[in-house]
Amino acid sequence: MSSLVIYFSRSGENYFGGELKNIEKGNTEVIAEYIKELDNADLFKVEPAVEYPEDYMKCIDIAKKEQQDDVRPEIKETLDNIDAYDTIYIGYPNWWGTLPMPMFTQLEQLDFTGKTVKPFVTHEGSGFGSSLKDIEKLCKGAEIKNGLSIPGANVENAKSTVEAWINE
Ligand SMILES: Cc1cc2nc3c(=O)[nH]c(=O)nc-3n(C[C@H](O)[C@H](O)[C@H](O)COP(=O)(O)O)c2cc1C
Repeated sequence: MSSLVIYFSRSGENYFGGELKNIEKGNTEVIAEYIKELDNADLFKVEPAVEYPEDYMKCIDIAKKEQQDDVRPEIKETLDNIDAYDTIYIGYPNWWGTLPMPMFTQLEQLDFTGKTVKPFVTHEGSGFGSSLKDIEKLCKGAEIKNGLSIPGANVENAKSTVEAWINE
C-alpha cells in the first residue's frame, strides 16, 4: 500500500488567535510532513504559478475574488496521475469556506476511481466549511474516509492526533 499527500499550504503572514504573525512553513505543510513520516507517504505540493501575496489582507482579497469568479489558477507543476497510490491524503487550509482554487486546478486533472481519499484541513475556526462537498465532486469514484480538521494554531501539537487518524 502506498500513499500520497496532495496539499496546498501558504507561508507568510497569517492569523493566529486574532494576531498576525509571519510563518516560514504553512500550517497544512506541518501536517503533510507528519503524514509523510508516519505513513511513509510521498508529498506533492500544489503551488500557484503566481504566488499569493505574503500580506494577509491582500491574499484574502485575491482568494475571495478567485472563488467568486470560480477560476482555475495556473499551477507551477501538475501531477498527471496517481496510478501508483492506493491512499491519497488531500490537505488544504480553509479559504473562505472551501479549498484554495489551485487545488481545484490540480484535483480536476486526476482520476480517483477506486482510490481511498483522506481529507484534512487546517483553519481558524470554520473547520471543513463546505469543502467536503467539493472533495466529493473533485474525487469522483473514490471512497472518502473521515476527515481530520485541525486549528492552525495547534499544528505543532497535533502529531499524535494525526497518527490516530491515519490508523483509523
Ligand atoms: C485567503 C484566506 C482565507 C481564509 N479563510 C478562512 C475561513 O473562511 N475560515 C477559517 O476558519 N480560516 C480561514 N483562513 C485561515 C486559514 O485557513 C488557516 O490559517 C490555515 O491554517 C492556513 O493554512 P496554511 O498555513 O497551510 O496556508 C483563511 C486564510 C487565508 C489566507
